[in-house]
Amino acid sequence: MTEQPHPFGVDFGGSGIKGAPVDPRTGEFSADRQRIETPQPATPQAVADVVARLVGRPEVSSEAPVGVTVPGIVRHGVVHLAANIDQSWLGVDADALFTERLGRPVTVVNDADAAGYAEARLGAAAGKQGLVVVTTLGTGIGSALIHDGVLVPNSELGHLEIDGHDAETRAANGVREREGLSWEEWARRLTRYYGVVEMLLSPDLFVVGGGVSKHAAKFLPLIEVKTPLIPATLRNTAGIVGAALLAQGDENRE
Ligand code: BGC
Repeated sequence: MTEQPHPFGVDFGGSGIKGAPVDPRTGEFSADRQRIETPQPATPQAVADVVARLVGRPEVSSEAPVGVTVPGIVRHGVVHLAANIDQSWLGVDADALFTERLGRPVTVVNDADAAGYAEARLGAAAGKQGLVVVTTLGTGIGSALIHDGVLVPNSELGHLEIDGHDAETRAANGVREREGLSWEEWARRLTRYYGVVEMLLSPDLFVVGGGVSKHAAKFLPLIEVKTPLIPATLRNTAGIVGAALLAQGDENRE
């Protein structure tokens, strides 16, 4: 059996763009992760240039599929909604732009879908059947729906309208920081948020990701829902791992 080149994942964030080749069986990085400052403004062209630098490292196989996360809706490679990134992304066929710039196939995916898929394959929800809802609590709220291991992309549950508000403007971690909410105050908002998602989707499991999940012990036990709620385990590598796995495609599953 010939060894496939490890897929390369890129996590495009507000302050840094990070990339590494990923061993798809374990989720471990097969070479060091590299980080380059996010260009300002972070236009598609400027980000494509950074991704080309990350992928251009000699230790990255020229055959490696590349996956890139974007914090917006991505349908068939085209970015449709971008609440927290440069508006020049809207309507851009990012798959085509990146593929042309890099001279190899690139798959662009929603950031929460990437993180959620990684958690479902290799992280907190590995092997779980039924409906897993992964949320990332960051500047906004990202979501991923995974049913029996299959991702249903672009769920955008952070933009549910709850009590007259776009949910992420009440319950994201960025809001907790900005408004100086205590863990208890924030947990009350999260209880309302997860309660609505629970009522709509009847999930089997919630996985809570995003950087703040390292403080899970402070707020997860305070969220009152019936569905089990557990912290993500891949933490800040989930985006890279998920982008790499999704770029590689399901046909390469062992
Ligand atoms: C965007 C989502 C994204 C999430 C986390 C939301 O505002 O609409 O597409 O996944 O933020 O970055």
